[in-house]
Amino acid sequence: MRPSAEAIADLALVVGAIALGIFLLVTGVLLATMWRYRLRPGAPEPRQIAGDLRLEIGWTVAPLLALAAVFVLMLGTMREIGASLPIAADTDRIPLRVTVVAHQFWWEYRFDGGAVAANELHIPVGVPVELDLVAADVIHDFWVPALAGKSDIVPGKTNHLRLFARQPGTYEGACAEFCGVQHAWMRLVVFAEPEPEFDRWLAVQGAARQAPAGEAARGEQVFLRNVCVSCHALRGTGAAGNGAAPDLTHVGGRTTIGTGVLRNDAAAMRAWLADPQRYKPGSAMPLVRLDPGDLDALVAYMESLH
Ligand code: CUA
Repeated sequence: MRPSAEAIADLALVVGAIALGIFLLVTGVLLATMWRYRLRPGAPEPRQIAGDLRLEIGWTVAPLLALAAVFVLMLGTMREIGASLPIAADTDRIPLRVTVVAHQFWWEYRFDGGAVAANELHIPVGVPVELDLVAADVIHDFWVPALAGKSDIVPGKTNHLRLFARQPGTYEGACAEFCGVQHAWMRLVVFAEPEPEFDRWLAVQGAARQAPAGEAARGEQVFLRNVCVSCHALRGTGAAGNGAAPDLTHVGGRTTIGTGVLRNDAAAMRAWLADPQRYKPGSAMPLVRLDPGDLDALVAYMESLH
């Protein structure tokens, strides 16, 4: 088992080598012919011919063979990376299934067992991860180049991709299909971690929020009496949202805000909540006017939600 990205990169190298070989051959023959039959005073004219059957068959069959070879190689790679096909025999790991829901301004990840995450996906190292890609209201293209190929996510259709990380690390990606004003900020990040660490993360994402204390508790009240609750779910508070905005139950544990547009810390969260349209113009997150005390409490609450 290896990352699909490696199989694709190997294919690209082989196809690139074939293309380079053809380029050198054709250019070489062309240059040699130009040199051999260059205009020289007194040299005899080359023999004039009209058509050459052998040549014509040759330059029809040669590209046909080259393309057929590339096609066969490509079929092998497609077989290897096809997420709907059985996992390679060299791993006995049962794949982890994750449903990726494309929303116009954010990514949603749903796991069996009820864990939900937004914008940042964690996966275990050495375990194949099967992504079922579905769209809520947009066409995105899911692309984490170091782990897998690309796949469009299209409303009304479920597409599949397989992620496999051999090494722990942070794998970045981006939406690769123009999807409106925030296309350039549809960042993807996949954290590949050792399995125990991943299991802990998954358990947290499946749990309700820890009851807040102090200023964060006041912030929860601010959250619950404002318009935030009409879109955002926050498990443990009764806020169920409407599915149109990220679940905020563990928002404080994410590294970024706004699908990658800001690093997640208290100062950035405050700036974001004070004027989301400044950072994500055109997105669905509205400006909710709060007095500074309420804003501080809300920021404290958001950052406490790990
Ligand atoms: Cu989604 Cu661009």
